[in-house]
Amino acid sequence: MTQYSTKNPLEEETRSIRMIDPCSLVIFGATGDLMGKKLAPALYNLGREGMLPANFTAVGFARREKNHEQFRNELKDHINTYSRVKPIDETFWKSFEKQLFYHRSEFDDDEGYRSLDAFLKDLDSQFATRGNRIFYLSVQPKYFPIIIEKLKQHGLLYDSHDQSKWSRVIIEKPFGRDLESAKWLQGEISKYLDESQIYRIDHYLGKETVQNILVFRFANSIFESIWNYKHIDHVQITAAEDLGIGTRGHFYEEEGFLRDILQNHMMQLLSLVAMEPPVSLNAAAIRDEKVKVLQSIRPFTEDDFKQHIVRGQYGKGFINGQDVVGYRQEQNVNPSSNVETYAAMRLFIDNWRWAGVPFYLRGGKRLPKRATEIAIIFKDAPGVLFQHGEKRTDPNILVIRIQPDEGIALKINCKVPGPSSPIQPVKMDFRYGSYFGKSAPEAYERLIWDCIMGDSTLFARVDEVEQSWKIFTPLLQFWEKQTSNFPNYASGSWGPQASDDIMTKDNRAWRIL
Ligand code: BG6
Repeated sequence: MTQYSTKNPLEEETRSIRMIDPCSLVIFGATGDLMGKKLAPALYNLGREGMLPANFTAVGFARREKNHEQFRNELKDHINTYSRVKPIDETFWKSFEKQLFYHRSEFDDDEGYRSLDAFLKDLDSQFATRGNRIFYLSVQPKYFPIIIEKLKQHGLLYDSHDQSKWSRVIIEKPFGRDLESAKWLQGEISKYLDESQIYRIDHYLGKETVQNILVFRFANSIFESIWNYKHIDHVQITAAEDLGIGTRGHFYEEEGFLRDILQNHMMQLLSLVAMEPPVSLNAAAIRDEKVKVLQSIRPFTEDDFKQHIVRGQYGKGFINGQDVVGYRQEQNVNPSSNVETYAAMRLFIDNWRWAGVPFYLRGGKRLPKRATEIAIIFKDAPGVLFQHGEKRTDPNILVIRIQPDEGIALKINCKVPGPSSPIQPVKMDFRYGSYFGKSAPEAYERLIWDCIMGDSTLFARVDEVEQSWKIFTPLLQFWEKQTSNFPNYASGSWGPQASDDIMTKDNRAWRIL
């Protein structure tokens, strides 16, 4: 069950740290981008803050040749670059690195799994990790089935009813490429794993500000009565990044923006903002309510595809003080690629709470700044007192800033001091950083820790994933048949002109507060 209290749940749980089972974590794809930038810093910070089990080891599994020592040194460099707390604490590192190991193998090589099994058993006897295992699949999605099959074949995955030891598998997103492939993948992995052993990661759910959406909505009495179609005009969800695709050309050519961000991260935000109060805070209750939101989304029509949905791809441009190349000129990208790096759309949730309220979603790479926000735009106040024929007040807007500058802001109308009484919108702003005076744990810290604890609340359940694919698969199929006019937005701009048109058709405008 997810812990919600007035303190950081990770810290709260430190008191019961002895309750955490010992275990070994095996990371497949341990020489990749995610390991260096996110997983290694997360493990280091969990270790440094005393959040890992007392008996713990981590083993990197990858295809490149290297020894334990080289692996540890590389991780140290990554931690020094990417950790939220720097520089590395040398004293802690000296003892921590002794728990980190490297295992070289191809993903389909039986011998590699046989020797992994022997190696983990050896670590069990040295570190008293008691046979408990987490396998983290940070690899291209095409390798998921073979790795899981080989793990099972070589006795590394246990029966979920085994009382003496446990095994869990963390699977990176995207889970499938569309509804059919997600179902196929689920069919494959469920031959070897029970649902309770599968942790489908969507790291947005590990972000403090995303978890706070539930607290904000359901621990405060003032919001619930206005959180519906009677008071809310529309909702906007923006996930903008100033970065391009960097070195991930292969990945992006396979996936594109919709599969990379929209189908998972953005739909999680939408579900949390729109869901009904769950009956309790346990994993099933929260996921049940989230999936109902997805089930209530009105299926897109051909008219939606043409009028209310836009895809884009960045061209060259100027951003953060420098000239940058277009997507088609990036490394490992087809020079006539039709892959989208941007999408914007309008959708409706056909249930009682949200009847008639449009939800507008937009996001992409190489936009002017990094900003992930949810904006709730309230209906206008009656114009009788202050409008006098012309519109002089702005709507109230509540913004949940997921990142950066995590916090919540409320835009309200205010009288400017003085006799002429003009009205001006002002912003009440709560910022996590300045209020709590410390950096929040990274999403991956929380999620690795939850998996060690066996809590799947902040992971995506299979019906959520499939429901989300059900919404977007027809759109992906439509796009496949259309020729694109890419590139259609310059790097450093807010996306294609057509995405503004989605809003102007409805007499609205995109907002970043
Ligand atoms: C990842 C995507 O899941 O999320 C990346 O694959 C994206 O393309 C990243 O850049 C964004 O994560 P965050 O935490 O920086 O918003």
